[in-house]
Amino acid sequence: MPLVAPSLLAANFLRLEDECKMLNESQADWFHLDIMDGLFVPNISFGPMIVKFVRSTTRKYCDVHMMIIEPWKYFKMFKDAGADNLSIHIEACPDLLKNVEEIKSLGMDAGVAISPDTPIESLEKVLPHIHVVCMMSVYPGFGGQEFIPQTMDRIRQLRNMIDQKGLKVKIEIDGGVTEENAASIVAVGSDVLVAGNTVFKSKDPKATIKHLKDS
Ligand code: DX5
Ligand code: ZN
Repeated sequence: MPLVAPSLLAANFLRLEDECKMLNESQADWFHLDIMDGLFVPNISFGPMIVKFVRSTTRKYCDVHMMIIEPWKYFKMFKDAGADNLSIHIEACPDLLKNVEEIKSLGMDAGVAISPDTPIESLEKVLPHIHVVCMMSVYPGFGGQEFIPQTMDRIRQLRNMIDQKGLKVKIEIDGGVTEENAASIVAVGSDVLVAGNTVFKSKDPKATIKHLKDS
């Protein structure tokens, strides 16, 4: 069974507390929180203040996806806001290993996010040191985009790499996950499904989450 990580980016922010309550009552495993700065990606979302509000509503795992330049400047702020995991983009971090160690030394899990055009081989060195790879299956920046089909081969490749090294790193797929494609994404070796629009635009979000869990 995959872990399901609804992305709050697609939530109704006027009713954020209700949306969090719904997730708490659902089978969702993680809360996925997308941080965007308008520089690393062409969109701006929210920062640590919202993470802190969300944290106050839930005991579930808060998975923070940092789509920002110079993310290391904000590790402590997100720790204080209550993040359980910080995923930083490989494309944004010239000193990735050092940043991963900084995240862990603050008492959080470390993840590395990878954009669709970045080769999977570039993860080789960091893999033994992290908890999760957040593999983008769309170009980061916006919810509601279509799943890029080439991602399937990239998942297989990463799955092999992780298994060959005997590691426990989770593969998290982020972008364009639907009730239709979820099962095939899990079948090639993913562990965590992020879903924004599929969950929050559903007529019955809890049933949709259950359906994703059963993928
Ligand atoms: C995109 C974000 C995703 C996004 C997914 O840059 O990283 O987490 O919220 O949204 P959906 O599931 O709607 O594609
Ligand atoms: Zn994300």
